[in-house]
Formats: sequence, structure tokens, C-alpha cells
Amino acid sequence: MIWHAESLWEQIAPELPGFTVEVLPQIDSTNSELMRRARAGQPYPTLLVAEQQTAGRGRLGRQWASDCSALTFSLGLPLAPADWSGLSLAVGLSLAESLHSHVAIKWPNDLWLDGRKLAGILVETAAMPGANSPERYVVVGVGINVAKTSAEGLRTAPAWLQELDPQATAATALARVALPLVRAVQAFAVHGFAPLAARFASRDALMGREVVFTDAEGERSGRAQGVAENGALLVHTAGRMHTLTSSEISVRPVAQEA
Ligand code: BTN
Repeated sequence: MIWHAESLWEQIAPELPGFTVEVLPQIDSTNSELMRRARAGQPYPTLLVAEQQTAGRGRLGRQWASDCSALTFSLGLPLAPADWSGLSLAVGLSLAESLHSHVAIKWPNDLWLDGRKLAGILVETAAMPGANSPERYVVVGVGINVAKTSAEGLRTAPAWLQELDPQATAATALARVALPLVRAVQAFAVHGFAPLAARFASRDALMGREVVFTDAEGERSGRAQGVAENGALLVHTAGRMHTLTSSEISVRPVAQEA
């Protein structure tokens, strides 16, 4: 595949000093690799693309399996937002807006097309080397199904980008999403999630739907009522409004798998 890495670098480097783009034919996981590098004292702004991952990871310790047609990459950079909450929503919003008007965001980390999963996002952070830095190294991992994807073994039925654009390839998808994503992450560090709330709401796949969620008290169901200014999901159950933060919570619409 021809990735046009130089052109990506030319677009992004002026906005992100020290930035590099790397495309690897195979690696265990682009997120794992950037986290390893950060922990080994190399917390550099990097876009790491893998043509194949042998141990892709998803949220909640799940695997993320993809065939070779998927776009799998991670963006790593030092960041010091006042508040980290809502970052995965800002990432999802940027990707959705770059891809297509029909792409919705399923809180907190998935992109959906017609109720099926088009893409997943995994945000991780590592401490920066050296004490007292307000920055952490953030790794934003993105996996987007590009060509027709088999539903076998998946918790959620898949969607793929070629349903929207039959000419799409992993490289064309990366060319669309990379620069807006860098800008979105940098803008998030300054302004947080609140200014994005209205745009998020217009793509909120769970808004008004019955959902099931699992928290420390077990499995419960309620109706999703949008997100708070910090990106927490609001769910109304029989007696009260729950504010769900993303870290360890799995939410699924009633009658569908998470
Ligand atoms: C999820 O659906 O739970 C998140 C999936 C995230 C997958 C991407 S693929 C590139 C990056 N490397 C990984 O190991 N995971 C993310």
C-alpha cells in the first residue's frame, strides 16, 4: 500500500514540532509500541501506522482483531489538558466528522454506522520522563474497518468504510483523518470537551435509547440522556440520573451486544 507518509508529515509537522510518521508492515500493537517507547524515555510526537497488528488491543482488556484491510494507527504526543475527561469523545468526534456525515459516536469510544461498529478508539497515557511535568504522553489508538469485515467472533456487528465510499483504502482514510485528529487533540488540551458538546450531541448514537450498563453495583438499564460538559454519559434509571465516566463501564443499547 502507498501511504503518502511524506505528505502527511508535511501537513502535520508544522503544527507538532519534532513529529515523525512511521509505517510498519507488522507489529503487535501500535498502542503498545508507543507506550513502550514512552516508558523507555522516548515520548516523541509520532504517528505510527501498522499494516498488520498481531495483538491489537481494545478497551476493557479486550482484543482488537482486524484483517489487513483495516486502518490501524496510533498518534502519540505529550499533552497537558486541565482535565482529561472527554478526550476519547473529542477523538471520536474528529474522526466521525472527517469520515462522513452518517457516522455516529457510540459513547465512549466507538464509531457506528447504522448501529454497527465501524471503528474503535483506545486512549492510554504514560508519565513523561522527569519529575514535575504537567504533561503526560497520550497514545490515541484508532482502528477503522475499511473493507467488508466478517462478523465472526465480534461482539458487535461490523460496518466498514467502503459501504460509504467504495474507493476507500486504509491510506485514503488516514489521509482524511490524521491532520484533523492532531488539531482536535491539541484543541482539546486547551479548551476541553465542553465546546464540542453540541456537535457531539448531533452524532450521539445512544441519545434517547434504552441502554444496559454495568457498574460496581451490577447490571442496570436506563435511558441515555446525552453527555455532561465533561463527557460523562447521563443515564436515567427508574429513580435517578446516573453519571457514567468512561473508564471501566460497558454500555450497550438494549437488545444489542456491547
Ligand atoms: C475498542 O474497540 O475497544 C478499541 C479498539 C482500538 C483498536 C486500535 S487499532 C490501533 C491501536 N492499537 C491497538 O492495539 N489498539 C488500537
